[in-house]
Amino acid sequence: MFELKDKTAMVTGGAQGIGKAISFALAMQGAKVAITDIDEAIAAQTADFINQNSGTAMAVKADITDIGKVEKAVSLIKEQFGAVDILVNNAGWDRMIPFVKTTPDFWNKVIDINYKGVLNCVYAVINDMIEKNGGKIISIGSDAARVGSSGEAVYAGAKGAIISFSKSLAREVARNQITVNVICPGPTDTPLTQQMQAESEFAQKILSKMDKVIPLRRTGTPEEIAAAVVFFASKEADFITGQTLSVSGGLTMS
Ligand SMILES: NC(=O)c1ccc[n+]([C@@H]2O[C@H](COP(=O)([O-])OP(=O)(O)OC[C@H]3O[C@@H](n4cnc5c(N)ncnc54)[C@H](O)[C@@H]3O)[C@@H](O)[C@H]2O)c1
Repeated sequence: MFELKDKTAMVTGGAQGIGKAISFALAMQGAKVAITDIDEAIAAQTADFINQNSGTAMAVKADITDIGKVEKAVSLIKEQFGAVDILVNNAGWDRMIPFVKTTPDFWNKVIDINYKGVLNCVYAVINDMIEKNGGKIISIGSDAARVGSSGEAVYAGAKGAIISFSKSLAREVARNQITVNVICPGPTDTPLTQQMQAESEFAQKILSKMDKVIPLRRTGTPEEIAAAVVFFASKEADFITGQTLSVSGGLTMS
């Protein structure tokens, strides 16, 4: 089940947090994993960790907001591991700030990383997938996009854009046997949420209440998100496309 031997996976933001768990889980199923991250040093540590645990991984430095850098990263991955079969758009960024206090510069940063970064990465790999007549594109959205999230209006909008983009792309490339799906985590303990809370009392107040709001009464773990990614990446999920799956203890039900 969920055999990924001979598959090449590109995981953006794979150095830490949810992306690290995804990279590790894909590698443990046999995929060769290219950890594509803006932070080269942590990406290299994560690749070493996977290689020491009998997986195959490489670290590739790239800022997903820069199409030129993404294209270079994809060529390097192709040279070393072969064309990308599985793209996991995981890299993301946010800070919890009420919309009225945000600035246009902040909106641009949030939209560039969370939405345009996904477009850049898909654009860089899709022709190879079409040529191969197969591929899996899995993007990490957020329950913020599905139920809303105070202090994350622009981020929720960008994540909502990923969901709409993915459904439309899924229709366009279905004839090429490429599936496109979105996984929406709820609050998950990672360096991102730790930093948000350390920097802002507002974020601390909202995130500390989550255990009471989530039906299963706890936040998620990166490994729980990774398990859903492995499923969508596998042959067993070949007939599933254009879907959005929340992995959030019941925070969103639909
Ligand atoms: N943690 C949560 O509670 C939560 C909830 C819902 C959705 N998400 C989403 O899950 C994904 C992973 O989040 P996380 O909590 O693990 O975050 P994190 O900050 O812990 O890790 C994100 C990784 O992305 C990398 N990254 C950031 N900007 C980049 C760029 N421009 N180019 C390349 N790499 C870049 C970082 O270096 C880091 O390694 C994000 O898309 C996030 O929006 C997280």
